[in-house]
Amino acid sequence: MSKTATLEIEGKKYEFPISVGTENEMSIDISKLRDLSGAITMDQGYKNTGACKSEITFLDGEEGILHYRGYSIEELAAKGNFLEVSYLLIFGELPTASQLQSFETDIRKYTLVNEEMKNIIDGFPKTAHPMGVLASLTSALTAFNPKAVDPNNKEELYTAVCKTMGKFLVIATWTYRKTMGYPLNYYDNTLGYVENFMNLMFKLPTEPYKANPVITQALDKLFILHADHEQNCSTSTVRMVGSSHAGLFASISAGVSALWGPLHGGANQAVLEMLEEINANGGDAAKYMDKAKDKNDPFRLMGFGHRVYKNFDPRAKIIKVAADEVLGTLGVNDPILDIAKKLEALALSDEYFVSRKLYPNVDFYSGIIYRALGIPTDMFTVMFAIGRLPGWIAQWKEMRENKEPIGRPRQIYTGSPLRSFVEVDKR
Ligand code: SDX
Repeated sequence: MSKTATLEIEGKKYEFPISVGTENEMSIDISKLRDLSGAITMDQGYKNTGACKSEITFLDGEEGILHYRGYSIEELAAKGNFLEVSYLLIFGELPTASQLQSFETDIRKYTLVNEEMKNIIDGFPKTAHPMGVLASLTSALTAFNPKAVDPNNKEELYTAVCKTMGKFLVIATWTYRKTMGYPLNYYDNTLGYVENFMNLMFKLPTEPYKANPVITQALDKLFILHADHEQNCSTSTVRMVGSSHAGLFASISAGVSALWGPLHGGANQAVLEMLEEINANGGDAAKYMDKAKDKNDPFRLMGFGHRVYKNFDPRAKIIKVAADEVLGTLGVNDPILDIAKKLEALALSDEYFVSRKLYPNVDFYSGIIYRALGIPTDMFTVMFAIGRLPGWIAQWKEMRENKEPIGRPRQIYTGSPLRSFVEVDKR
């Protein structure tokens, strides 16, 4: 393969180095393009633009492949647990039994959230969307942990990782407790990480609570499936914000806000709302398919399509099977699961979707499981954030350890040429 790419601009040729990744992905390094030619590239939505080299996640959208640090998502979802996969993503290797034990023990050192944080959450109305509250609380953690993390200090970085893993889970559940008017729970250091999620969410002071192991096992798998996805919108946001040397909590808070959007992580909530609307309108899936295809109708089939996957999202395949298993085990008979399957079958045989390579993505079935587990719809994207946290941490850590420069894209100006100021009484 040629080691360089040639670009000809106004009769002049420029050569740019080509580099090839582990899985033979090719990139053209244009870092000298503007200096040499005065031109920049334009690529709205960065559909063809790489922002970094990364050793964390590999995905192949055409083949529907997803690997975390070289391990297939199928194997990790079947054999791993969420803290183990979090360790893998953040530190690069699957932990030994003692490393995993130490990681869990070290996270437990930081699961107490400063009581003054309750004053902050009390400032929100009960009707506030949990994602907005979570973004604010995550940023507020900086107020109680003001020392900036030195990414070159392994001890400091490890502590920041454990602190973030510990405190984020607690404040994420507080957003639900706030909307319900329930007292805020504390992490129980005698329980596992995902079991604690259930405790933090649903334990009431008036009666004993024991999380259903079927539910904690299903959630553990869902968190693994959401843990990282290379340079998606929210992860790129975390890297961009972190590139200014803003702290880890501030960067994660920005990631939470980016994830909230209905085109990104907010889609899981939008999928459920869409399925419920279809169900309420008699379950006529075909009518909504027509709406999704109608260019004059802003309606999109939420949970379908993906910037990178032009084949089945491998996570969607696993979640679809898990949805059947969990609802079956819990004895939940949810009509919207049948509507989802009907929509999927229609879309997979419809020219509009087939020609645009629109397949179910990670958000299409996840909400059906969350609903069966008793998670309220407006908490679905918070669930996504809890799962994505280790990926955000891993990507922030990699960007800082690699001493990547501050992110600052260029633009092409298309506004007014120079003009003189006109006093207001002369306009
Ligand atoms: C996530 O990047 C990641 O990795 C994200 C994620 C992660 O793990 O971090 O995987 C999580 O965000 C999954 C995606 C969740 N979002 C949704 O489910 C929202 C619905 N999907 C779309 O809005 C859309 O598919 C996107 C935003 C996901 C991707 O959009 P693109 O790549 O910018 O594609 P596009 O909007 O240019 O669409 C291409 C064509 C268009 O039609 P034409 O103009 O060519 O005629 O496909 C159509 C679109 O109108 N299209 C859809 C559609 N998605 C795309 N038409 C109907 N319904 C849809 N869902």
